[in-house]
Amino acid sequence: MKTRITELFGVKHPIMQGGMHFVGLAELAAAVSNAGGLGIITALTQRTPEDLAREIDRCRGMTDKPFGVNLTFLPSVNPPDYPSYVQAILDGGVKIVETAGNNPQKWLPKLHAAGVKVVHKCTSVRHALKAEAIGCDAVSVDGFECGGHPGEDDVPNFILLPRAAEELKVPFLASGGMADARSLVAALALGAEGMNMGTRFMATQEAPIHERVKQAIIAASELDTRLIMRPLRNTERVLINAGVDRLLEKEKALGADIKFEDIVGEVAGVYPKVMREGDMDAGAWSCGMVAGLIRDIPTCRDLIDQIMSEAAQLIRGRLEGLLDDEAPATAAVA
Ligand SMILES: Cc1cc2nc3c(=O)[nH]c(=O)nc-3n(C[C@H](O)[C@H](O)[C@H](O)COP(=O)(O)O)c2cc1C
Repeated sequence: MKTRITELFGVKHPIMQGGMHFVGLAELAAAVSNAGGLGIITALTQRTPEDLAREIDRCRGMTDKPFGVNLTFLPSVNPPDYPSYVQAILDGGVKIVETAGNNPQKWLPKLHAAGVKVVHKCTSVRHALKAEAIGCDAVSVDGFECGGHPGEDDVPNFILLPRAAEELKVPFLASGGMADARSLVAALALGAEGMNMGTRFMATQEAPIHERVKQAIIAASELDTRLIMRPLRNTERVLINAGVDRLLEKEKALGADIKFEDIVGEVAGVYPKVMREGDMDAGAWSCGMVAGLIRDIPTCRDLIDQIMSEAAQLIRGRLEGLLDDEAPATAAVA
């Protein structure tokens, strides 16, 4: 399958693995890239820029295919050393960067000068248009159903993606709620040129996380995520657990007066405890509604191969088969 996204990234299949804190390590990124998708290392999981440089080297040792790095720009009192992280990316010869969070404009000249393609993750059409206007090469459009931070507009992908298609000139990936061939074909029909998956890639053999996390995703239904930090306008979709229950109780009790400090125990430092140690009630960790569609733990190659072969069957068999002989072969589709 050839789209503007496969061309831009130089990959075989229009499937990307989104940055994931304490999940997006070299093992997963390399496995996704080796399977023909685009694997992504998550920069801020690496404690220092030197650690990121080592992780990029490690990934290069495991794949000769293109892979990228996620740079998440968080609002923070003590921001990470972004200039040095960017330098590690450039020195490591990485050619694709997924940015997320705050506006990445400041970093674009340096990245573009080194031939890096930038795909910015957005949760609204207005942010996607802004990303396009400042010169991002592509965007990843993250609907309300996504794991992680869905923004504050609450627009699901069945509306958000066609709206993005109406407005954008740069190619975009559908992100949030994507799991299988049906997701890919639907995303293409809605105007996207590829799909980005987070939660689905956690439940793979190569995801370097505790087995209990993978089993929790398989056990979860589409009803088992919750939105936290809404009163702080930093909404995150997470899997329900005892830590999240505690946090939601505090949100209810404190109402609009809640401060980050009130919930720090349930959100800070949680990822290593959950992902490495499998401490499932340590606190809040991102998970998409798509957990309800995930029932197995395949290798990344089996997952991607299955998506691509079933997508071809869906398009050639099911969808084309719905048309009668009178239907025009090429329709004028906006
Ligand atoms: C455990 C987890 C951690 C994540 N961490 C990050 C992150 O650090 N930076 C980021 O830009 N997105 C992060 N995301 C969001 C994903 O990159 C992706 O946009 C999202 O998972 C897509 O929705 P899906 O889970 O329904 O596929 C995370 C998602 C998950 C599930």
